[in-house]
Amino acid sequence: MAFLSIKNLTKKYDGNTVLDSISLDIEKGSFLSLLGPSGCGKTTTLRLLAGFEKCDGGIIEVNGNIINDIPVYSRNFGMVFQSYALFPHMTVEQNIAYGLEQRKMSKKDIKEEVAKAIEMVRLAGYEKRRPKQLSGGQQQRVALARALVIKPDLLLLDESLSALDKKLRVEMQVELRQIQKKIGITTIFVTHDQEEALTLSDRIAVMKAGKIIQIGTPEEIYETPKDTFVASFLGQANFFKGSIAEKQDNIYALRLKNDGVMRFVSEKNIQPGQLSAITVRPEKIEVSRQAKELSLKGTVLFVTYVGDTSIYRVDSMGQEVIVQRQNTGNAEKYDIGDEVYLSWEPENSLVLEWDGEE
Ligand SMILES: Nc1ncnc2c1ncn2[C@@H]1O[C@H](COP(=O)(O)OP(=O)(O)OP(=O)(O)O)[C@@H](O)[C@H]1O
Ligand SMILES: [Mg+2]
Repeated sequence: MAFLSIKNLTKKYDGNTVLDSISLDIEKGSFLSLLGPSGCGKTTTLRLLAGFEKCDGGIIEVNGNIINDIPVYSRNFGMVFQSYALFPHMTVEQNIAYGLEQRKMSKKDIKEEVAKAIEMVRLAGYEKRRPKQLSGGQQQRVALARALVIKPDLLLLDESLSALDKKLRVEMQVELRQIQKKIGITTIFVTHDQEEALTLSDRIAVMKAGKIIQIGTPEEIYETPKDTFVASFLGQANFFKGSIAEKQDNIYALRLKNDGVMRFVSEKNIQPGQLSAITVRPEKIEVSRQAKELSLKGTVLFVTYVGDTSIYRVDSMGQEVIVQRQNTGNAEKYDIGDEVYLSWEPENSLVLEWDGEE
C-alpha cells in the first residue's frame, strides 16, 4: 500500500476549479516532484496536503486512513513554504526549536534535537544569528532544519530552492537529496524548473491547469512523454505536426500544416486522418551532407557553440528544427547556409497525441 494516496482531489476558488480531480500515490521514503507552469495548482496541492485548505472533493489517505478532517498540527507533516518565512526576531536555534516547543518537548531534548538538525544542514557556528544575518542558502537550510526537526512523516517543499542563484541551487539540490535519502523521509517537492525535477526526483508528476498530465520516473517522462505539453515542458523537443495521410507497412506519410509531406517510420498502429506530432529531441537528430532514406533536407540557419555541444537551427519542412550535436574531435562542422540532411533512428522519435492546437 502506498504511504500517501490522493484520490480525485478537487479544489475550487470562487467557483473556479483550481484542482480538477487529481490522483496520485507516493511510496514511503520516495521523492516526488510536482512540476508545472505557474498557476497550475502546485501550491494548492501542498496546502491541501498540509491541511491549510479544505478540498471540495476527493480524499487524502495516509497508510490507508483518510486524513481530510485531521487538523494541520495533528498531521505531523513538515512544510517549507515558497517564501521560507523564518521568524525574523528569533535566532537560528530558536527558529528550529519552535516546532518542538509547541510540542512541549523537554528543554534538554529540544537542545539535543536542534543540535542534530543544525549538524545535518551544516549550520554549526551559526546558531546565534538571526535570519537577516544569513545568506539565502543558509536561510534555506534553517527552513529545512525547522521542518525536519519535528521528524515529520511527510516533507512538503514549495519551490524551496528557486530563490537561490544557480550554483548554490545545484549544491542545495545535492544536499537536500542526500539528507532526504539518509533519513528516508517521504518528500513532495514543488518546482517549475524541469532540470531540478529531473535531478532530484524518484518520480515526477507533470501538472497543467489543475490536472496531472503524466506521472513517471524522470527517464520515463523525458523519453516517453505522453503529449506535446509534457515533451516541451521537460527539455527541448522538435514537433512535426499534421495529420496522417497514408500508411504503407510501417512507413507513414504526415501531411503538415503547410501541405508539405513528411515520411517517417513507426511501429505504432496509427490510423490515417489521426492528428499527430512526430517528436524528436534535438540530441537524437543526426546531420549529414548526404541524403539518406527518409532524411529531411534543410539549410543551416544558425550555429551556436556551447562548449561540449553545438546547437544547429535548421530550416526544414518549412519550420525551424533544433539539432544538438556533441563536439567530439572528429564531429563534422556545418556553417550557416550549408545544405544538410537530418535523420534519426525510428526508435528515437515518438508519435504523440496532438490536439490540433499550436
Ligand atoms: N486563496 C485563493 N483564492 C483564489 N484563487 C486562488 C487562491 N490561491 C490560489 N488561487 C488560484 O489557484 C490557481 C493555482 O494556484 P497555485 O498557487 O496552486 O499555483 P502554482 O502552481 O503554485 O503556481 P506558481 O508556480 O506561480 O507558484 C491560480 O490560478 C491561483 O490564482
Ligand atoms: Mg506556487
